[in-house]
Amino acid sequence: MHQLLILYLACAWTLCAGSGDWCYQSEFSCDHQCNVPENWDHASKNCAGRDQSPINIVTRKTVKDDRLTPLKFQNYQHIFRGLIKNNGHSVQIGISHPSTISGGGLSTTYKAVQFHLHWGSNGGPGSEHTIDGEQYPMELHIVHMKSQYNDLPTALRDREGVAVLGFFYEMSNSPNRKYETLINALRNIKSAHGNTTLSPIALAELIPPEHNMTSYFRYRGSLTTPDCSESVVWTVFENPIPLSMNQLKAFSELRFQNGKPLVKNFRPLQPLNGRVVFRSAGAAVLISSSLLMVALALVLELSQPN
Ligand SMILES: *[C@@H]1O[C@H](CO)[C@@H](O)[C@H](O)[C@H]1NC(C)=O
Ligand SMILES: *[C@@H]1O[C@H](CO)[C@@H](O)[C@H](O)[C@H]1NC(C)=O
Ligand SMILES: [Zn+2]
Repeated sequence: MHQLLILYLACAWTLCAGSGDWCYQSEFSCDHQCNVPENWDHASKNCAGRDQSPINIVTRKTVKDDRLTPLKFQNYQHIFRGLIKNNGHSVQIGISHPSTISGGGLSTTYKAVQFHLHWGSNGGPGSEHTIDGEQYPMELHIVHMKSQYNDLPTALRDREGVAVLGFFYEMSNSPNRKYETLINALRNIKSAHGNTTLSPIALAELIPPEHNMTSYFRYRGSLTTPDCSESVVWTVFENPIPLSMNQLKAFSELRFQNGKPLVKNFRPLQPLNGRVVFRSAGAAVLISSSLLMVALALVLELSQPN
């Protein structure tokens, strides 16, 4: 018993410290020594920076910004056959056709590069960002870079070279049929580095309809995995995407490289360090402007000479 304890302590404090690649706490084991999130700065100094992601968004402290109009999505309807792979940390799908976002307070046009997800264990809490302390079961990240760049490493050297769209998921009673293609493909990529070609899908099918994407939060942050580059303009949408419990659970069937279940692949919350989180005018503005129209119509009506 005593010897086991010593062995355990040696592993936890000495042997495992500072060695190996980065990992989530859920992947850590004595056999697979890796840098857990608290030690990611051993893998990359950026991870100890002041503008890190994810963060908890305190809605009461967000600042409304009228420049945050609805984003323009271009070619998100394009149907493509992407390569989906278990990259050992997440499920990632590459995007090679030109799909772009612009507007919504972005300084230029950004093109989609890849998307991936962060989840909990069997449908439990798993998003990276939280809203007023609430953690959702899963979060989608669609990674974009400024259209002028040809590769992500170059874009990451620009303070606002990358724009990530974050979407939450919520549990629904019925399955989301638009996700069947993606979720069925998970069976073929259970082990780390497994990959397969996805049946044709469009990015637009995976996200809410445009009228449900008017409410969002904006702040400057980082990649949520090493090298934690602080070059990300974050857009976190308020309206979640519905998935059934079984659909959420399917992600927990995947495995890390060491064979442990690929679960809880989210980074712990990072300090805001004085950053301001902005909020789009969103639905509230749409309602008040339509009220304005009604009022205007009434005034015109009343001013008509009979
Ligand atoms: C996909 O998996 C095959 C083995 O099944 C491997 O040879 C290939 O390198 C993988 N491709 C990618 C892009 O990971
Ligand atoms: C769009 O938003 C409405 C209101 O919040 C919600 O009831 C509806 O389920 C949403 N639709 C989708 C597809 O997300
Ligand atoms: Zn991510």
